[in-house]
Amino acid sequence: MARMTQAARCGIALIDSDRKAIRPHAFYGFDEETMRPIEAPLVQDEGDPIYRLLYRGETLHLQSILSDSGMERYRPFIERLGIQSILAVPLQIGSVPLGIFYLCDKEGQDPFTFEDIQLTQTIANQLALAIANQQYAANLEKVNRELQQKKIEAEEASRLKSHFLSNVSHELRTPLNAIVGYSHLLREEVYGALNEAQRPALEGIQRNARDLSQLISDVLDLAKIEAGKMSVDLSEVHLPALVDEVAAGIRPLSEKKSLPIRCVVEPGLPRINSDESKIKQIIVNLLSNAVKFTSKGEITVHLRTWPDRNGVELAVQDTGIGIRPEDLPRIFDTFHQVDGATTREFGGVGLGLAIVKELLHLLEGEIRVESEHGKGSTFTVLLPVRNQRSH
Ligand SMILES: Nc1ncnc2c1ncn2[C@@H]1O[C@H](COP(=O)(O)OP(=O)(O)O)[C@@H](O)[C@H]1O
Ligand SMILES: [Mg+2]
Repeated sequence: MARMTQAARCGIALIDSDRKAIRPHAFYGFDEETMRPIEAPLVQDEGDPIYRLLYRGETLHLQSILSDSGMERYRPFIERLGIQSILAVPLQIGSVPLGIFYLCDKEGQDPFTFEDIQLTQTIANQLALAIANQQYAANLEKVNRELQQKKIEAEEASRLKSHFLSNVSHELRTPLNAIVGYSHLLREEVYGALNEAQRPALEGIQRNARDLSQLISDVLDLAKIEAGKMSVDLSEVHLPALVDEVAAGIRPLSEKKSLPIRCVVEPGLPRINSDESKIKQIIVNLLSNAVKFTSKGEITVHLRTWPDRNGVELAVQDTGIGIRPEDLPRIFDTFHQVDGATTREFGGVGLGLAIVKELLHLLEGEIRVESEHGKGSTFTVLLPVRNQRSH
């Protein structure tokens, strides 16, 4: 290019990524040592020829560069480089400036011609495209590297979190087991007879120890699911038998409140292929809520086919306190309980439904709730007959 226009030297200067300065990028005919350290701060000033060049798209053609008062600001390095005349055009993509393409000192210090100017502008357009492409590719690579790094960090954080949780839960469980063990021995009066006041106090200790133990395993389960560490073990699951088994476990509680638990099975209900222990946990959580939030009436579990999605429906219906429509959207959030006061009466910490939701996500199922405040609630779980994803 310099040869074509008989310029002694030429070069490209690019705007920094933070858009504060412009620096030499590539050059011909200049001394590397003098050129490299140059950095011209960008100014927002209509009187500045470089500003007008970059932001107004003007061509700069000065036969005697230092006679232009606007160039005074750049005098130190113009003198150092010994530049007399200049022809400079902007490098831009659309209206976005990237930098400057310049030619200096035409042979014999003649002025640059109209053809020189046109040629320079044409070349500048090509250069701008090439530079933009290169910057784009470099940027993309940088973003990719950053994403990769973030991913590694997130995986490490999640690994540390589940490691921490499983250690902590072990450390909590050991003394907790000792508490449960000693209080059991006390209740059995191994260390002597209990008086009237000691017995209920001891029951309180045992109940709270059980709640704490449940909380630890719930938190651990949720952490495992979140860390993607919960695997799905598929096998054939016979839902009516599973519901009976869970109901039998809960009956000591429901009988205390005189609540019958019934299971109604639609004839021809298919067996499903799913993860039995996870479904069991879902039923435990729903049935224990039903018993907990119901004081009279009954609890019914309906098992039906779910024709439109080739699946089965498991609906747990109670005649309990119900849930107001405005509270429904949040009951599946972790640690969310509708009413602090009710909760104190009923116990629990608000993780049961969050776990149900996460487990159903793993099992490719869904859950729906219908509830009327004061009348009762129905939690309906929908499970596919067969999982689509292979685990
Ligand atoms: N069968 C139900 N009847 C009325 N409210 C319910 C029922 N099941 C859940 N809820 C409401 O949803 C909240 C969250 O339930 P859950 O996650 O199981 O936590 P927890 O049982 O520990 O309170 C409960 O605190 C309660 O307010
Ligand atoms: Mg619960």
